[in-house]
Amino acid sequence: MIEIEARLSELRALGLHQRIRLVSGPQGPHVVLDGKPVLLLCSDNCLGLADHPRVREAAAEAAMRWGVGAGASRLASGTMTVHRRLEERLAGFLRRESALLFGSGFLAAAGVISALARPGDVVFSDALNHASLIDGCRLSRAEMFVYDHGDAEHLAWGLAHAQGRGALIATDGVFSLDGDVAPLEDIVELAQRHRVRVLVDESHALGSLGRGGRGALAEHGLEDQVDVILGTLGGALGSYGAFAACDRVMTQYLLQAARTLAFSSAPAPPAVAGALAALALLEDRPRLVDKLHVNAAALREALVAEGFDLRGARTHILALMLGEPEPVLRMGEVALARGVFAHAVVPPATHGPVSCLRLTTMATHRAEELRAAAPVLAEAARTAGVDPRAMGVVVPPQDEYDDEPTEPYAYEAEQTGPYDYEQIAHAA
Ligand SMILES: Cc1ncc(COP(=O)(O)O)c(C=O)c1O
Repeated sequence: MIEIEARLSELRALGLHQRIRLVSGPQGPHVVLDGKPVLLLCSDNCLGLADHPRVREAAAEAAMRWGVGAGASRLASGTMTVHRRLEERLAGFLRRESALLFGSGFLAAAGVISALARPGDVVFSDALNHASLIDGCRLSRAEMFVYDHGDAEHLAWGLAHAQGRGALIATDGVFSLDGDVAPLEDIVELAQRHRVRVLVDESHALGSLGRGGRGALAEHGLEDQVDVILGTLGGALGSYGAFAACDRVMTQYLLQAARTLAFSSAPAPPAVAGALAALALLEDRPRLVDKLHVNAAALREALVAEGFDLRGARTHILALMLGEPEPVLRMGEVALARGVFAHAVVPPATHGPVSCLRLTTMATHRAEELRAAAPVLAEAARTAGVDPRAMGVVVPPQDEYDDEPTEPYAYEAEQTGPYDYEQIAHAA
């Protein structure tokens, strides 16, 4: 049995105990945090639609029209018209035959992946995949092949050695931790060659990449070349819930086979209506996406001017990586005391011993305030004893973490995921 108090003490002793802060008021580009206004650089609400008046109104009207809760899962008490409407709009936006709503992105990944792989199969998972994909793979009880982050060659090796048992490649489109974009063209080509399915989680690519924010797949014209596109409604669409976009047969199958859909309440009508309004705004105002890029570039350029090494970064998510958690936590505290709220991501919330200050830009930031944040972050790094030039987007080597140096192309059965508390012992 887990000794809860001992685990908590261990986290505190390692300086890894995370503090969750109190936000008053809505989630905008600035928030009132523990009573103090700060610049918010850690929200996935990248288009700033969570508190947009039209989105709020739509949610409020939906609450009056359809009530607050869906009451049960759709298998039990049916699909509400508002669910159907959002599914149709999402499918149209993403140019897929259909879409299916889930309660959240985590539930979607868990339900879809476990419906597409089974014991005896092999699922292929990028080393930096979001925790929901990792847990979806685990839930399937298939064997996992974890390929190096963004490394199509390693994936090719894994596929070639799967002895025909390959079932699914699962990857983030834009990686939640470091904002990297997956090598989607290679992945699709490999999947076709080896006859395995592909699932891409576009949660962070929606509203950011591709024409009008249609995602990383759309950027390469690959929307219809993958089996399932997942996306949260909690990011660019400013709401809560998620979807799987796919063809009709897959939708029919998932309705029968995805346990997180069958045994979990259908999304709440106000959240669904809010996402519908946000999607309409995104379709009407593609300039929101351009503004996000302008802002992301402004922050990147200002950080580079301060010495941070951001070579290769190109999305609105940035991770200033470091091997050690303590200076990252300290840097986050110092920046916050100076009005800049960034997310210090440290074990067990990261894979292995990697720590980073994760920065996310929003379309509703002002470029000047983002530029002004860069010297604050550089000063915070120096106060924490780190030269900004030592921090950048490159994941530091994990040699210290691995007891044994791993074969570059080893076939692994395990993926260490965020909040795997076993990592704490490793990190200690
Ligand atoms: C890539 C990715 N997938 C899935 C999720 C989970 O989505 P949700 O918050 O809707 O559970 C997140 C959450 O941030 C994410 O970053």
